[in-house]
Amino acid sequence: MSDAASQRKMWGGRFERGPDASFYEFERSWKFDRRLLPQEFALDRAWARAITRAGIVTKEEGEQLISALDTLETRAKSDAAWLDDSKAEDVHHFVETALLEKLGPLGAKLHTGRSRNDMVATEFRMYVKDAAREIRCAIASLETAIAAQAERNLKVPMPGNTHMQHAQPLLLSHWLLAHGEAFHRDAERVAASAARADVCPLGSGALAGCAFPLDRKALAQDLGFSSISANSLDAVSDRDFALEYLFALATLAMHLSRLAEDFVLFASPEFGFVELPDEFSTGSSLMPQKKNPDAWELIRGKTGRIYGGLFALLTTMKGLPSSYQRDLQEDKENLFQAHDQALAVVRIAAATLAATQFREDRLRAAAQDPALVATEVADYLVTFGVPFREAHEIAGKVFQAAEKEGKSIREMPVARLKEFSPVFDGNLVTALTLESALARRSLPGGTAPGAVRAALQEFKARLAKLETEL
Ligand code: ARG
Repeated sequence: MSDAASQRKMWGGRFERGPDASFYEFERSWKFDRRLLPQEFALDRAWARAITRAGIVTKEEGEQLISALDTLETRAKSDAAWLDDSKAEDVHHFVETALLEKLGPLGAKLHTGRSRNDMVATEFRMYVKDAAREIRCAIASLETAIAAQAERNLKVPMPGNTHMQHAQPLLLSHWLLAHGEAFHRDAERVAASAARADVCPLGSGALAGCAFPLDRKALAQDLGFSSISANSLDAVSDRDFALEYLFALATLAMHLSRLAEDFVLFASPEFGFVELPDEFSTGSSLMPQKKNPDAWELIRGKTGRIYGGLFALLTTMKGLPSSYQRDLQEDKENLFQAHDQALAVVRIAAATLAATQFREDRLRAAAQDPALVATEVADYLVTFGVPFREAHEIAGKVFQAAEKEGKSIREMPVARLKEFSPVFDGNLVTALTLESALARRSLPGGTAPGAVRAALQEFKARLAKLETEL
């Protein structure tokens, strides 16, 4: 686009002087909304068809508009310098100017009955729908990596913690699938935000509706929307769909940061539960021995930026009067950067997880801590009719004594145990094995091997359904 052309604004008629150069740089959104070019071209073509159907342009004119738009789109795909050098105000201005240069007065007919306000609302919704699909695909890959690791490690036990203290034993696959469940909800939340975005505002004009006899439903269908917005004023004001998408990304990022935190801890020598993959780790410029979990740390760290997108847009929206306000232009950079970051972190998490080697020896050894079977002692007493609260008290005393005597409860002679409760007998030792503690939690959702195998099958079935949807 020539500079002269870029000076031809979409709104210049009532102005005597052009904008101050620094203000123009400040207000123009082309630098970032050029990302919406595919949506802009699709919308322009649909609009050309709609105004042809409405008799605003002739059939030939409509065809000319569409073929010019096709040519421009082809050039936009291959001529990066054309886009880089453009001084356009925004994505709508860029295409309109190019169309005017190409078609003259006919190009100027395309904007009949529409406004950048309903255009940008429509294109941004189209973008969110595509972006949501991209994120869901990435989440599906992450879920695939989780399912594969869960399958591979079905027999591996680990200590389960609460408050970072040994609590009860778990299967490693149970821990993996816990994260998998959270990510699956994220995929659902992302899909729900895309469904919210799936309403077409086009035909709302600047704020009051369109004064030309256009078929809004046909337009919406042409652009792949399921329905049309009900109120033109709401349609140009509303960015709830973007907030919902950002919230879905923020929650996803939060879940990823928790997975990352687990891995950072597990990679420390004190835990030593995982072997960090070389391909997804870094070293130290000073300390030759180091292999650091930077992939997970960056995944955890980038959560801040993703939250930032949500908080920034929520704050921008607060207190805006009804209708379109230029503040709304701030929606795009926030959402684009949050989307880019979220996509990157999900993809890196999936690849890092897939490449990670779990150290069964270390996990198994840690899972043998007798403290992890303290609940079993209480439950054992319950099977003899001791009320649970009392059983809990007795088990606590037994563990305290074992600790003081410096031995494992598994080594305590029955005679010593009977001092705490007459119902203790030799069978307690069997109840205190890791295998028994795991196997007893066999209700659906529990960590017993059978329950985990069933949960894995169910998880894989849901994942397969997600994949067919994508
Ligand atoms: N670049 C603007 C945005 O992103 C497009 C709409 C401009 N509309 C207006 N009336 N100034 O929101």
